[in-house]
Amino acid sequence: MEGIMGEEEKVINHTTIKSLSPSKSRDCMEEEEEEDEVMSEVHLGCPPNFCGPHLSYFTFPTSLQPQQQEEEENVVQGSLNCQGIINLDEDGDLLLTRRKRNNKSSNNCQMTIQHNITSTLPSVGLQVWRAELALADFVLHGMFTSNKYDGITALELGAGTGLLGIILARVAKTVFLTDHGEDILNNCAMNVHLNSKIFENHQTSIFVRELDWIKSWPPSVGSDLLTSQERYKYLWNLSEVEEAENASLLLAADVIYSDDLTDALFNTLRILMSRGSSKVLYLALEKRYNFSLNDLDTVANGYSHFQSYLQDEEECRQLGNGSLPCFVGKGIDLTDIPQYVREYDRESNIEIWQIKYLSSVSTY
Ligand SMILES: C[S@@+](CC[C@H](N)C(=O)[O-])C[C@H]1O[C@@H](n2cnc3c(N)ncnc32)[C@H](O)[C@@H]1O
Repeated sequence: MEGIMGEEEKVINHTTIKSLSPSKSRDCMEEEEEEDEVMSEVHLGCPPNFCGPHLSYFTFPTSLQPQQQEEEENVVQGSLNCQGIINLDEDGDLLLTRRKRNNKSSNNCQMTIQHNITSTLPSVGLQVWRAELALADFVLHGMFTSNKYDGITALELGAGTGLLGIILARVAKTVFLTDHGEDILNNCAMNVHLNSKIFENHQTSIFVRELDWIKSWPPSVGSDLLTSQERYKYLWNLSEVEEAENASLLLAADVIYSDDLTDALFNTLRILMSRGSSKVLYLALEKRYNFSLNDLDTVANGYSHFQSYLQDEEECRQLGNGSLPCFVGKGIDLTDIPQYVREYDRESNIEIWQIKYLSSVSTY
């Protein structure tokens, strides 16, 4: 797995983007087999030597806030004009101005997210990764500056803890949070439950569902004849599959780290995006550099492989039908997107891509 590296690889890796947990406790180490652990950089207020699920609080505004918020509430101060002269009334009394009440807290929303601080590679979805938070900023920006997400159906691939989809559920009609493996899906469902207050007024439906890219699209469908106890909790039914195919928005964060998985992901996307409504995918990634013995240089292998799937829309247009079907991708300028979620460092190696699947000239 490029970029998320084991201890030995870490020595030759030029980045500190991901590392083995220095805080793994002896107890954990004894309990676990000698499997490599990986760690995202998102571990808020977690005590040292912590192991297992941790609750973190992520804060984001619920609307665009004025640039300058007053820090104190109800502070009374003397009124100076811009030349620094004290303002007095007709009787020579000092004019006092009462600062506006600080509404900062009421404009903020706090999410509780259960996540692990470290995990083995197959369980990276138990952690929160920075690309998810950057994509949350992107979606929040869209929510604050337009109504394009209002009432939509959206699907997140590799949703992990579900943080992004839960934010989107404030305005969307239906959100599918998809991933694979029961532990990750259970954790995601737990986070939906913990944060139901965030979207309860919006009557949004959130479905946590299994979507394994290796098995591609469509996912297996559960028989309606089974009782709810007999059915696997995260199995789709036919109408959900149909609804997901009519989603207009797809999201995916930090899903580019293994070439095999990238192939499986794009194979799933190719089928999902060619069915039902036309869709746009926003994919956030961390561009990870590793030292390659083959190249004797630091290279972003996973990233190059990802890019090999994308064509430039303009070039595609010029080539016409001969180049279709294909994925076209466009990088988003993240300097235009304010950081709304406070609890992470948005590093310059984070990118967001807008990706469409063009199957005919009419989809241009
Ligand atoms: C690095 S984590 C990112 C999780 C989350 N999006 C975030 O950024 O916090 C990669 C995600 O891809 C999921 N994933 C890996 N292989 C998958 C597969 N074959 N099918 C579906 N999801 C997969 C993992 O379970 C995990 O949730």
